Amino acid sequence: MKVTIGSDHGAVALKEEVKMVLKEFADIEIHDVGTFGTDPVDYPEIAAKVCNEIVTGISERGILLCGTGIGMSIAANKIKGIRCALCNDVYSAKMSREHNNANVLALGGRVLGFGPADEIVRAWLTTDFSGAARHERRLHKIANLEC
Ligand code: RB5
Repeated sequence: MKVTIGSDHGAVALKEEVKMVLKEFADIEIHDVGTFGTDPVDYPEIAAKVCNEIVTGISERGILLCGTGIGMSIAANKIKGIRCALCNDVYSAKMSREHNNANVLALGGRVLGFGPADEIVRAWLTTDFSGAARHERRLHKIANLEC
């Protein structure tokens, strides 16, 4: 599975830590679109880079990080085909996959320490969409809301 990851300046350190987790999965290929330093960048540009790789099929999943994860998740969910979940706990991460089939995970570099982020990322990567008809139906209704 290919995973595209990106952050703004508010979460560069957590991005590097999340990449360490991703590297433990033999079947995961990582594409890091940046940013790579602490100079301020605008998070919608990073969100667009990551999400474009998801909607064009280059990558299966995306991980976005900013200070809170909020800006990234708002920006990502503007893009047709993206279901981005901002998760600060493991339960939400699992549910975002099982019920919402989230294809992008957002994390807050100024919110989460590495320990919780590590557990959230592992849970999100290893939980499958349930495929239940009721969840498919609801996702279809979300897709119908897209402009
Ligand atoms: C950047 O200072 C900050 O606004 C950004 O990282 C993010 O938290 C926005 O939601």
